[in-house]
Amino acid sequence: MSALGMAVVGCGYWGPNLVRNIVACPQTRLVRACDVDAARLAEVLAPYPGVQACTELAEVLADEQVTAVAIATPVATHHALARECLLAGRHVLVEKPMAATVAQAEDLVALARERSLRLMCDHVFCYAPVVRVMKDIIDAGSLGDVLYFDSVRINLGLFQRDVNVIWDLAPHDLSILEYLTGRQPVAVSVQAARHAGWEQENMAYVALDFDNGFLAHLHLNWLSPVKIRKTIIGGSERMLVWNDLDPAERLKVYDKGVTIQPRPDRAARDTALVSYRTGGVTSPHVPHGEALAGVVAEFAAAVAEKRAPLTDGASGARMLRILEAAQQSVARGGARVPVAGEGA
Ligand SMILES: NC(=O)c1ccc[n+]([C@@H]2O[C@H](COP(=O)([O-])OP(=O)(O)OC[C@H]3O[C@@H](n4cnc5c(N)ncnc54)[C@H](O)[C@@H]3O)[C@@H](O)[C@H]2O)c1
Repeated sequence: MSALGMAVVGCGYWGPNLVRNIVACPQTRLVRACDVDAARLAEVLAPYPGVQACTELAEVLADEQVTAVAIATPVATHHALARECLLAGRHVLVEKPMAATVAQAEDLVALARERSLRLMCDHVFCYAPVVRVMKDIIDAGSLGDVLYFDSVRINLGLFQRDVNVIWDLAPHDLSILEYLTGRQPVAVSVQAARHAGWEQENMAYVALDFDNGFLAHLHLNWLSPVKIRKTIIGGSERMLVWNDLDPAERLKVYDKGVTIQPRPDRAARDTALVSYRTGGVTSPHVPHGEALAGVVAEFAAAVAEKRAPLTDGASGARMLRILEAAQQSVARGGARVPVAGEGA
């Protein structure tokens, strides 16, 4: 089967990673790259003389060799660009978050369905080897019942102009949460602040309620002096710690837990037996591999097999529902805001 002819639109910070991976993937062929900034584009395409450069989406869509388009422009532009590509009969891979509103996301999902085109969102961590290993551990039942997900994703910058820290960083954790647990939050509460004279929230504590005792908490901050990328997933049997900045021991599984043996008589409640289990720690092997290579391969496979990709447009729309609820919570001083269900 011939390789999927693709174009990348938006070659700022993230787009060049798509360019590199589309060039490297045997199932795809980069035909064109487009950016309104011609100088930036020339710099990015210097190592790829066979790729055509252009500054207008119309030029991309006029090229019949382009069957699919990857969009890595600012969030506010995603909907209009993706819409134009779908209307021109192209499959679309769009960066996270998929659009700026739920309505825009739903519009893209409907349009892709109507035209039998693939719409995929780059929820890149769902393709990271470490997250795949975590999923295997959870699916095998090694953690027991999964009780909570606690993530810290902080560093100094990159300050984004068009979105706040929640819209920029929470998509990573929200997509990982959906992939690992298959669950959707029913409500969200967010405490957030705008410091350093910035117009967007640059630190946030996001609490997600899943209605069955399972809780998630995301600590997101662009104003931290140190970079931390750490997630703890607590289970009834074992607990897992993922430190993405520790390549030697990225993942550790702790055989630790607590068992409470209640006393039947109320009077003796204070003496209920709490036993702490402190077994060993294992550090499962995590294969090497770039997550974005997995994104590109999955997109090409979904197009070839005429099936929905793992992180399809619907998953992009579900994420938008959570982000919109989170934004409402910020506006209402941290109030608990229900997350709208599909089609609500
Ligand atoms: N998946 C990830 O891990 C990840 C990481 C970083 C950024 N992103 C996402 O990638 C997207 C882009 O982020 P970035 O940090 O690269 O932004 P950026 O501002 O560095 O780059 C955006 C580029 O798009 C170009 N552009 C803007 N409007 C355009 C248009 N109409 N047509 C063609 N080009 C246009 C700009 O000139 C710029 O070069 C965002 O959605 C962001 O959330 C994803």
